[in-house]
Amino acid sequence: MTQTQMKTALPLRDTPQLYGRITRLLHWSIAALMLWQFVGMGLKLALGRQPIVAFFVGSHQKVGTVLFVLIVLRVVWALTNRRNRPHHGDGVVGLAARLGHLALYGAMILVPLSALMRAYGGERGFAPFGFPIFAPQQPPIGWMVQFGELLHGELAWVTLALIAGHVLMVGVHEGMWRDGTLTRMAGRRRA
Ligand code: HEM
Repeated sequence: MTQTQMKTALPLRDTPQLYGRITRLLHWSIAALMLWQFVGMGLKLALGRQPIVAFFVGSHQKVGTVLFVLIVLRVVWALTNRRNRPHHGDGVVGLAARLGHLALYGAMILVPLSALMRAYGGERGFAPFGFPIFAPQQPPIGWMVQFGELLHGELAWVTLALIAGHVLMVGVHEGMWRDGTLTRMAGRRRA
């Protein structure tokens, strides 16, 4: 029997051994769009006003809005599957993994939410992809605008640090402990 024949089809839902197709689709599409956001904002900080930067900055609010929807779906899907997905293990390492993931979920929700609150409370209105979502506020809702101003950019960089820690730990699992953690989100189960 060939290796391909030994692989079984990926389930739609999660199982205790691996993450299913829906979780993987959400995980990797969110990862790609987050990368887009950070590359764009990193270039903005590094290069200032440039055509390439304008391209990224021009897509930032639209991509961020799509990300918010995907992240909400991801949280709902994670809750639906919470009793039927891979465990993070016992002891300190398992606890650290659970807390790290909780922090990532919290930050991923708050970063776009704070920007959307700022847009909701602002005087300019908000129409990503040309669809008017929030009408302009006259006068603006001060606390919402300030909340977004205070939190959005700062928490986004904290989120980037959390993502870096997450990627680093996957590297430790794969390179040192060799426990197949990456396979749960990226690999195939064998029959
Ligand atoms: C998960 C999604 C998002 C990520 C990861 C993200 C990330 C970032 C980062 C890293 C910055 C740069 C902060 C700095 O200059 O130090 C930024 C700025 C900005 N973001 Fe987002 N963002 C997201 C969603 C959104 C959404 C949904 C909106 C609009 C509704 C938005 C609007 C803005 C604006 C206007 C700025 C420039 C002004 C500022 O610093 O606050 N972002 N974002």
